[in-house]
Amino acid sequence: MYKINLGKSGLQVPTVAVGCMRISDMSEREVSAFVDTALNVGANFFDHADIYGGGKSEEVFGKAITPSMRDNIFIQTKCGIRQGMFDFSYEHIVSSVDGSLKRLGTDYIDVLLLHRPDALMEPEEVAKAFDELKASGKVRHFGVSNQNPYQMKLLQNSMDMPLCANQLQFGVMHTPMIQSGINVNMYNEAGVNRDGGVLDYCRLNNITIQPWSPMQYGFFKGCFIDNRKFPELNKTMSRIAEKYNVSKTTIAFAWILRHPAKMQPVTGTTNLTRLSDCLKGAQVKLTREEWYEIYRAAGNILP
Ligand SMILES: NC(=O)c1ccc[n+]([C@@H]2O[C@H](COP(=O)([O-])OP(=O)(O)OC[C@H]3O[C@@H](n4cnc5c(N)ncnc54)[C@H](OP(=O)(O)O)[C@@H]3O)[C@@H](O)[C@H]2O)c1
Repeated sequence: MYKINLGKSGLQVPTVAVGCMRISDMSEREVSAFVDTALNVGANFFDHADIYGGGKSEEVFGKAITPSMRDNIFIQTKCGIRQGMFDFSYEHIVSSVDGSLKRLGTDYIDVLLLHRPDALMEPEEVAKAFDELKASGKVRHFGVSNQNPYQMKLLQNSMDMPLCANQLQFGVMHTPMIQSGINVNMYNEAGVNRDGGVLDYCRLNNITIQPWSPMQYGFFKGCFIDNRKFPELNKTMSRIAEKYNVSKTTIAFAWILRHPAKMQPVTGTTNLTRLSDCLKGAQVKLTREEWYEIYRAAGNILP
């Protein structure tokens, strides 16, 4: 498995992260097989959140890993989403981490992300929570998710440690970050800047973008692979997949990884064959022509 640097954290992590949002209904045996499949190819970076499966995802994962495995894997989790609100208060961050540590059966978290922007965020309060969590050894590195550049800058102003990651939805069928960059100063829909230029901001500041839901179209609407709604995209991806002798799933990851921002996509499949296919994405380097061909087949037009 190819590695990248996770922002300025100093951590060398696999290019594809293994998402655990959908593992809550799996048995302990199934989760063990899931973890083993990932580890067999060196994919030892697992993405969690306190809310996945209402805490069940962290719990089943914690049961599936043995103490001897702990130092050979990276565990990232998130906090800040509560029923009916977002909460970046000191109390919530600290108590959420304690809950995650307990469920995961570990005494440290490698990376903690703030899950979704809290309109009532007070940066100094977040920084205090982060400082204490770092000093106590409970959390080693910090990042955000679904934040725009000014939100990150506001938080970073109060922090001594660098934010290492920003987890954002991105994939073949979700490309606003790319579209607005290609359509600068145009009156068309694609040119609307919805994220404040987060892609370039992260590249300039060495913050790793972790694309979530890389296989979905819309907001959890379903997978686009073999989906009759997207005939042109599937036809194009099938042809390119045949050329490299891989599956379309692998091509979808290769497409994300071909972007020079050195992103770390987070796969969400629970199927072991598909998991291997996602992880293989780093082995295929698409040509510039193929990358743009897939972008256009997804319904995007170039100005
Ligand atoms: N930060 C955030 O706000 C945020 C939001 C959402 C997710 N996440 C993270 O991102 C991870 C990935 O999200 P996601 O689960 O929505 O990702 P995804 O990889 O886009 O979607 C996975 C889902 O698509 C299905 N699928 C069907 N055909 C597939 C194919 N050919 N290849 C791959 N998957 C296929 C999978 O089913 P099978 O299991 O049957 O393969 C699974 O239900 C999550 O686990 C979580 O860690 C973060």
